[in-house]
This record gives sequence, structure tokens and C-alpha cells, in this order.
Amino acid sequence: MRILSIETSCDETAFALLDCSGTLSAPRFKVLRHLIASQIEIHRPFGGVVPNIAKREHMKNLPILLDELKLKPADWKKIDAIAVTVGPGLEPALWAGIVFAKELAKTHKKPLLGAHHMEGHLYSFLLEKALSRADKEKIKAIFPAIGLVVSGGHTILLQVKDLKTRTRLGETRDDAVGEAYDKVARLLDLPYPGGPEIEKIASNLAPGSGTIVFPRPMIHDKNYEFSFSGLKTAVLYYLRDHPDALKTDAGKAEVARAFQDAAVDVLVKKTFRAATQYKAKSILLSGGVSANKFLRSELAREAKKRKMQLHVADFVYNTDNAAMIAVAAYLNTLKKKKYPLKAKGDLQM
Ligand code: KG4
Ligand code: ZN
Repeated sequence: MRILSIETSCDETAFALLDCSGTLSAPRFKVLRHLIASQIEIHRPFGGVVPNIAKREHMKNLPILLDELKLKPADWKKIDAIAVTVGPGLEPALWAGIVFAKELAKTHKKPLLGAHHMEGHLYSFLLEKALSRADKEKIKAIFPAIGLVVSGGHTILLQVKDLKTRTRLGETRDDAVGEAYDKVARLLDLPYPGGPEIEKIASNLAPGSGTIVFPRPMIHDKNYEFSFSGLKTAVLYYLRDHPDALKTDAGKAEVARAFQDAAVDVLVKKTFRAATQYKAKSILLSGGVSANKFLRSELAREAKKRKMQLHVADFVYNTDNAAMIAVAAYLNTLKKKKYPLKAKGDLQM
């Protein structure tokens, strides 16, 4: 099944063209094309994404990206379906993609599939190079797994029995971890989005070095919920009491390091507690924050110690993209599951 997919849930306008084949026991994905137009520079002066500006930019970028794909009538003939993100995300932004996809589907007489953005993240590990030709045995050996989805809007822990069945174990009660990175970056006068910026300056110091220790919210709670707003507030109070920290790069780096150590510590501890409880064979890491090398390496280290696998998509597919949307749409087709073609900002996992 060749799928043309569209993603516009936040501040990236993206298209992808994938060949999807196989069954739920061994699905295979080949990315033929993959384009992203980022609006980061446009939202940067506002310190975050402005929904109506995002919508306007998606409407401008969608036809430009489609042109860039240079799809000829012969190419259209080979496309079996169009997929578009219906949620969760910013509703004005989602609508821009849905309306465009509907027009496209009508013009080219193709079925239109609604896709779940977070399912896209969760299953993006299937785009990992090592799994692109995986057979049934290799896929089977991954499960049961624990899924950790960490993005700008979500922090979710899931029990993933196989590619058909999953259960949400817990999520954040307040800020998502990506949101905490972005907010702490703002406190440190670093540009938006803050995740990569914090990672960059924190990497100047060794983990656990320095004298600052921030709280690890809910780390000992016997549940799988998270809370990151207290950690952000702890950074705020620290900077209020130590204003000199903001005056030098070294001071900022120390705060960033201590923040990242605390955030990653909570994510890793809770993920492996779930892994033990549910006898998981692997960890599936996804979402924008999965681009963080420290989070990846800490999860990989712990997984190796326990002889577990860690699966995470190649870097290009960690932050928002349309390839993962085709993956989610194809898996749903196999499950005979459909999402209504309407924007749903708070679509649940
Ligand atoms: O998945 P994503 O692209 O969009 C959402 O669905 O939210 O995630 C964006 C989030 C932002 O909060 C960004 O700061 C964070 O992912 N992020 C990172 C890194 N790269 C992106 N956080 C920590 N370290 C990174 N290297
Ligand atoms: Zn996302």
C-alpha cells in the first residue's frame, strides 16, 4: 500500500510517501519521500507556537511542499491512499491539513485515512533502519514492551503487548517533559524550542557534576504518572535566589545540566519500574524529546544491564514528521480502525 501522508498538528508542515506492506506480525515500511517545512523561526519571537500563525503557515506551505514532491499522473496512479493527522494537536493547525487532504483525496479519487499523531510517535520505531526488513520472529521478540512517548505536548507511559494492543499506564499531570525543557530554556534566555538548546549547553558538563540538585517529582510514587511543573518552578526559584547564574554561560550550563539530570532520572526510573512490573523485553522511545542523546544513552545503558532492547527511530523521525503518520495510518488499516476526519485537539491514546 503506497500512502501519501500529511502532518500539520503543531509547527511543522510535513509530507511523506511510504510503501507499507506486511501484516501486524511483520509490517514493513519504506520511506520514498519525506519533506518537512519548519515554522520554528516564525514562532521563535513569541517563545512558543501561536496556533493561528501555525494555521496560516501550514496553508501557505502545504501547496509548496506538494509541488516539491513533483507527483506526475503516473505517480498518483500508484498511490493507494492519503493519510492526515486528525489529533491531538492545535485544532486550527490540524484543520489546515485535514481540509487540504480532503481536497487532494477528492481531486485524485483516493481514500482518506485519519491518523493519530501520538500513535505515529509510538510506532515510529518501526522506521528504524534495523527494523525495515524485520521478519515475524524479530518483531515478536520486541514484545511485550514499554512505550515512552515524550514530546512538547505529552509524556505518556504505555504497556505495549504487541502491535495490536496497548494500555496507557500513566501520563503527566501537568507539563509535558518537552514543555518543561522549553520553559526552562526561556528562564535561561535560550531560544525556542528549548530542548536542543538545553541539551547543547548541558553537554558541556558531566552528568551529576555541579552542586545544584533539583527535585525529581513523583520518582518514588508507585504509579506511572509524571509531573514536571514543580521541577520547572524549582529552576525558577533557584534563578531568583542565584541571579548571577544567568550572567555566564558556565552558570547557565550548570542549571541546564542539573535540570536535565533530574528530568531524565524520573523518566528512566519510571520506565524501568514499568518494564519490571510488566516483564517487558524492550523499551520503545519516541516523541521530540527522544532526540535527546542523554535520555537515549541512559535508557540504552539501563536496557543493556537488563538485557533488554531499546528501540527508537532514527533522529530525523523523532520530532514531528509525516513518515510516522503513514505508519500509524497503515497499522490502523490492518486493525480495521478508523478515526473521523475531524480535528480533535485532545484525542487520547
Ligand atoms: O514531537 P515534537 O516534535 O512535537 C510535539 O508533538 O510536541 O516534540 C517537540 C518537543 C519540544 O518541546 C522540544 O523542545 C523537544 O521536543 N525536543 C527536545 C530535543 N529536541 C526536541 N527535548 C530535549 N532534547 C532534545 N534534543
Ligand atoms: Zn509530536
